[in-house]
Amino acid sequence: MGMIKIPQEAIENFEKNYPQIFESGNLAEGKWNTSLSAFFKDYTNAAHAMAFSSNGSGLLAILMLLKKYRSFKKVFIQSNTMYGVKTIAISSGLDFVGFVPCSLPSLMPTAVQVREFLDSLETTSDCVFLATHIGGIVNPEIQKISEICKERGVALVEDCAHSLGSTLNGKHTGLFGVAGVYS
Ligand SMILES: Cc1ncc(COP(=O)(O)O)c(C=O)c1O
Repeated sequence: MGMIKIPQEAIENFEKNYPQIFESGNLAEGKWNTSLSAFFKDYTNAAHAMAFSSNGSGLLAILMLLKKYRSFKKVFIQSNTMYGVKTIAISSGLDFVGFVPCSLPSLMPTAVQVREFLDSLETTSDCVFLATHIGGIVNPEIQKISEICKERGVALVEDCAHSLGSTLNGKHTGLFGVAGVYS
């Protein structure tokens, strides 16, 4: 099994700074979260960025906001993703309406598979598609999928748990739909 090696420089930076974070008494908000958000806003070229405690909590917040403030009612995901993503989708309170199949070459849905799934639904303009980029690879059809979602009124949310730093034609994952969450 592969191991994740943390660079020595990162370990030293953490050791140097973590006492300040604990002593501040401000663990959930404050200057460290603000600087992390600002760093990733610039790094990805996103319009806005906000730090969360986990990818799952960020995704859940986005789905709940879409339900409460944008009147979305349904959510679907892709068949190949992390198990917990379905739990996140259901926990949002949106109605879970199924899985888009994935293609073998990319292990992610193609634009045709997304279109066919949408064709099987009675209405699409109240749907959120929570799509995952798998294993650091950007879904090669994400631009087309994003356009289909726009045409059909579907809110595309990108689960970028595996894809921080991955780009397609210079554009970072997380920027193709209404929002994205990195790990
Ligand atoms: C594809 C995918 N989405 C979401 C998550 C959830 O991330 P977190 O554990 O940070 O909530 C994971 C975690 O492994 C994941 O692999």
